[in-house]
Amino acid sequence: MNTTVFEQYESEVRSYCRKFPEVFVSSKGAYILGESGKEYLDFFCGAGALNYGHNHPYVKQKAVEYLMNDGIIHALDMYTVAKREFLETFEEKILKPRGLNYKVQFPGPTGTNAVEAALKLARKVKGRRTVMGLMGCFHGMTLGTLALTTERDARAGAGVSLNDVVHVPAPYMFPELDTIDYVDQILSDDHSGVDHPAAFILETVQAEGGIEVFSVDFLKRLRALCDKHDMLLIVDDIQVGCGRTGTFFSFERAGIQPDIVTLSKSIGGLGLPMALTLFRPELDIWSPGEHNGTFRGNQIAFVAAKAAVEVMTNEKLDANVRENEAVLRDGLQAIASVDERLTVRGIGYMWGIDCSKIPVDGFARRVICKCFENGLIVELAGRKDCVVKLMPPLIADKATLEKGMAILETSLKACLAEL
Ligand SMILES: Cc1ncc(COP(=O)(O)O)c(C=O)c1O
Repeated sequence: MNTTVFEQYESEVRSYCRKFPEVFVSSKGAYILGESGKEYLDFFCGAGALNYGHNHPYVKQKAVEYLMNDGIIHALDMYTVAKREFLETFEEKILKPRGLNYKVQFPGPTGTNAVEAALKLARKVKGRRTVMGLMGCFHGMTLGTLALTTERDARAGAGVSLNDVVHVPAPYMFPELDTIDYVDQILSDDHSGVDHPAAFILETVQAEGGIEVFSVDFLKRLRALCDKHDMLLIVDDIQVGCGRTGTFFSFERAGIQPDIVTLSKSIGGLGLPMALTLFRPELDIWSPGEHNGTFRGNQIAFVAAKAAVEVMTNEKLDANVRENEAVLRDGLQAIASVDERLTVRGIGYMWGIDCSKIPVDGFARRVICKCFENGLIVELAGRKDCVVKLMPPLIADKATLEKGMAILETSLKACLAEL
């Protein structure tokens, strides 16, 4: 395996390649092929950017046809057929059936761009400085979003102060503390010292935070709390949207409507860079060009995104996720039952095995490395990287899920045996 050029020239900032030491060549469905000739089952899916699997044939065909027909590749934010067709399909197949009325902003190609736009808009609409978020959250790595992201090492990289945010404990942190009551009280108390925030932002499932699923009750009460205190509710659906939890938007299970929603990762269909910031029409107080940029809509991503929305609805991938959720849950619980210190959390096609009670630094990392050796790609999440995170592609059937879990079981048992 020749990795010399990467090690010599690519910045030390590179990260995933250290956990998954292989040079990848091609991919199809749930599998990715290495230059070494080894095939890996991919239960990481580009950190959630490949919900439809690698090179989904229909999505790829549409993108290839577009390229071969000399479709527009770059157009700033000018009108194009590709953008029109994406917007029409997104409205017809995703927003309308869910009774959602959102304006769509193309804030730049990545997730953090979508969150930056959401934060800027919320502050502008409310004329307030701060945004409230939950401890354990991850919202991106650019300065505005990094101010919210809680991981200490990531924050340390900022080199400037990270301001204008208020973090409150996530519900799982202090079982005796009711987070909603706490926020209600500090916002009602004229001596709490906490400024009135413009918005409250959250992931309905904290992904990087360790697969922490917030309850329907918590989400409903948070919606009501935002109304009571005149804060906008921003749901960051970048990692857990696009069907990952069993519905297109992760907040659907709570029957709530956020004021602003951020989407990225799998919205680009094939793994192409694309992000959306959605908001209630009355919040659209941007003036033309106020949040401008060169890459405000990747045209091939529009084509792939339209095709992916068609796949999602025609192949009923969300229903597939709901149907197979129990396969993952029961399978992982059975695997974790080998050691009472392991716990399992998750929803839909997003699960974690929490190894924090195993008193060995880096135990979860050993497990994912062993999985990789055995042909399965899974990732780490959570405090001190103590959670093994599984995100199979939504196209994965029962047999594929079971195959991945069998590799995980062998790998986990081998790591436990080495303790
Ligand atoms: C919930 C959430 N928000 C924002 C981001 C940032 O997205 P990106 O890495 O595309 O900037 C991520 C990335 O993992 C995420 O999981």
